[in-house]
Amino acid sequence: MKAPYWILGYEVSGKLVGRKTRDKFRVSDVAFYTISESADLDVLEKLKDAARGKKLSLMEPAEVIPYIAAELNTSLSLTTLLKRIQHSICSLLSAEAASILVHSEDHLEFLVTEGGASGRIESIPVPMESIAGTIFLKEKTMIFNDLSKDKRHFKGVDKAAKFVTKNIVGSPIWTGENKFGVIEVLNKERGFGKEDAETLEKFARLIGRKLYSTIANERMKKLMKEIVLAVTSVIDKRDRYTQEHSRNVARISVMLGRKLGLSDKDLEDLEVSAIFHDIGKIGIPDSVLLKPGRLTPDEYNLIKNHTVFGAEILSKLKHVTENIISGALEHHERLDGSGYPNGKKDGDISLFGRIIAVADVYDALTAKRVYKEEWSKEKVLEILRGDAEKGKFDMKIVEKLEELVKEGAL
Ligand SMILES: [Fe+2]
Repeated sequence: MKAPYWILGYEVSGKLVGRKTRDKFRVSDVAFYTISESADLDVLEKLKDAARGKKLSLMEPAEVIPYIAAELNTSLSLTTLLKRIQHSICSLLSAEAASILVHSEDHLEFLVTEGGASGRIESIPVPMESIAGTIFLKEKTMIFNDLSKDKRHFKGVDKAAKFVTKNIVGSPIWTGENKFGVIEVLNKERGFGKEDAETLEKFARLIGRKLYSTIANERMKKLMKEIVLAVTSVIDKRDRYTQEHSRNVARISVMLGRKLGLSDKDLEDLEVSAIFHDIGKIGIPDSVLLKPGRLTPDEYNLIKNHTVFGAEILSKLKHVTENIISGALEHHERLDGSGYPNGKKDGDISLFGRIIAVADVYDALTAKRVYKEEWSKEKVLEILRGDAEKGKFDMKIVEKLEELVKEGAL
């Protein structure tokens, strides 16, 4: 019987067939070693007897790579992609860690995932005279099993990451004919061999294109976000808000959304929606928006229109979803029907509208303004809770906000 590609080894009564990896799953007396952090236990249950009789045939690491590459070739965020790449290559080569560096001008830079050494190593430029630089310039997969005597080993990174690199196998990463980075796999117990180098080289070839397009995509998204924030900060400033209002509302909304269990895609959309929530103020004349005294009913109606203007502006953009538009349109709606522009109630108000409403009020009241001092978080939470009890805000969302303040995240 053939084992699925993600099983690299198994152990029956202490006898190992294939190889051990970091991810072990036990089904009665059989332990399976896999390249994924989660395993399909039903499948393992079915393979158990074949494993007991040692009739389970495994693939060689090099044969497994195309399957992994195919699985990585779906739509993933850069962070998830990097994590999966690192995890699978470490399992395949039985190594401790893996890092990916990209070429930038005259040096290499780390691409890092969250956690681990993130925040400590990505700002360190890795010189071209280093091991990674040598691999990149020579365009070859190379093994370095004795780093103690190798002057090319760049110790700056180990120090910052609080990590001791003992040995390395590394390979350039290509997109078509252009090399753009290096993948390094670190620390194998008895050092890396020729087979490891071949496996890594094949792996690097197969993930290159996907990695490159994901990096480019992420950079473009970051750039777009910066442009949008620059535009909204001008609107915030005009409205006597702090310059950071839209950015803050976006940050708080995403934290609330995460607590509510929204998917990565929804969180991305929620962030865009929150950044843009007041974009419609662009259509309100200064004489009304900045009027110091009381507004006439007509003027107030005009202000209310910023929600509708915002939704109109956003609906003209190609990749903007209904969810994103709903946040701009409905962030002043209240659950009891007392809000605007449509006096919608309860479940008729979108989740994005309900989340941004809470984040908007929280930031507006805790911020210092020209006309008022900042209010304490406790006081603002009290007001929000009171309003939620009166049926204006979604209590579940206000509770999540309270949790965030309690945890010190806000
Ligand atoms: Fe607004």
